[in-house]
Amino acid sequence: MEEFSTIASLRARLAKERATGRTIGLVATMGSLHAGHLSLVDAARQSSDCVILSAFVNPLQFGPHEDFARYPRDPVRDRDLAAARGVDVLFTPSAAEMYGAGSDVRVVAGEVGSRLEGAVRPGHFDGVLTVVAKLFNIIAPDIAFFGQKDIQQVILVRRMIRELDFAVRLTVVPIQREPDGLALSSRNTYLSPTERASALALSRALRAVAAEWRDGETDAGVLRARMEEILHAEPGVVVDYVVIVEPERLAPVTRAVAGIIVAVAALVGRTRLIDNVILGEAYA
Ligand code: PAJ
Repeated sequence: MEEFSTIASLRARLAKERATGRTIGLVATMGSLHAGHLSLVDAARQSSDCVILSAFVNPLQFGPHEDFARYPRDPVRDRDLAAARGVDVLFTPSAAEMYGAGSDVRVVAGEVGSRLEGAVRPGHFDGVLTVVAKLFNIIAPDIAFFGQKDIQQVILVRRMIRELDFAVRLTVVPIQREPDGLALSSRNTYLSPTERASALALSRALRAVAAEWRDGETDAGVLRARMEEILHAEPGVVVDYVVIVEPERLAPVTRAVAGIIVAVAALVGRTRLIDNVILGEAYA
């Protein structure tokens, strides 16, 4: 595995790949790699000749009172995990490299970016789309791999690709979970053992609702009420939202059909967790 920290050196290296017709797959991360990230690497490995993993804690997508400073960072471990999993090129730029002095131009996520996560984290998705647009421009990947875990991010990246005409294909990878159901997340390291136990209510509630849906319940109001009942029964969990929405604009639906998203966000202690299922797809 080769590692680059500057845009110019990475571009020079990738020009060689492209000249020989090799396809490039991009896995964008903020480092602190876990099995969820590595499943994106596996997917990339299967369908691209050259796998690039970017590890960059993007300051633009953190609000002033969010966890940018304490976000977990472990570059040495990331390097080992990435190399062992078959990453060809690791890209680890500094903030100065990505956002030079005076950097001010941003991608605006629009209305869909102001819902759900965006309602609680104003500007978050502008920051995400700006860095993803930069990575697409720097790397020009044939395929980019994103996790369903951050479903609103997937929807916005898909919209950006379409609306800004990026020549990249998006592949969405299912949510990787601990054996007990907890969706893998870098932020899980913030949870105390008690909080971790409480956090299981999210996946438990999603699984219960998906089971009811499979048994024939399609009334979104009924399914939502069931979710909330399970979540509210868990004292350590403060629900932020439970929504049943369509995958284009994240607008609420009244009838839950296959492809509809059930998403939840909740505070467990001081840690904000998100999880979701797509009805008719894996897990649930
Ligand atoms: P990060 O949170 O590091 O996640 C990187 C990628 O891993 C995202 O596509 C995310 O959805 C995926 N991922 C995280 N947990 C997962 C899980 N349990 N199962 C499957 N995939 C999972 O998302 C970001 O970074 C940033 O916003 C980024 C896109 C890199 C822009 O800064």
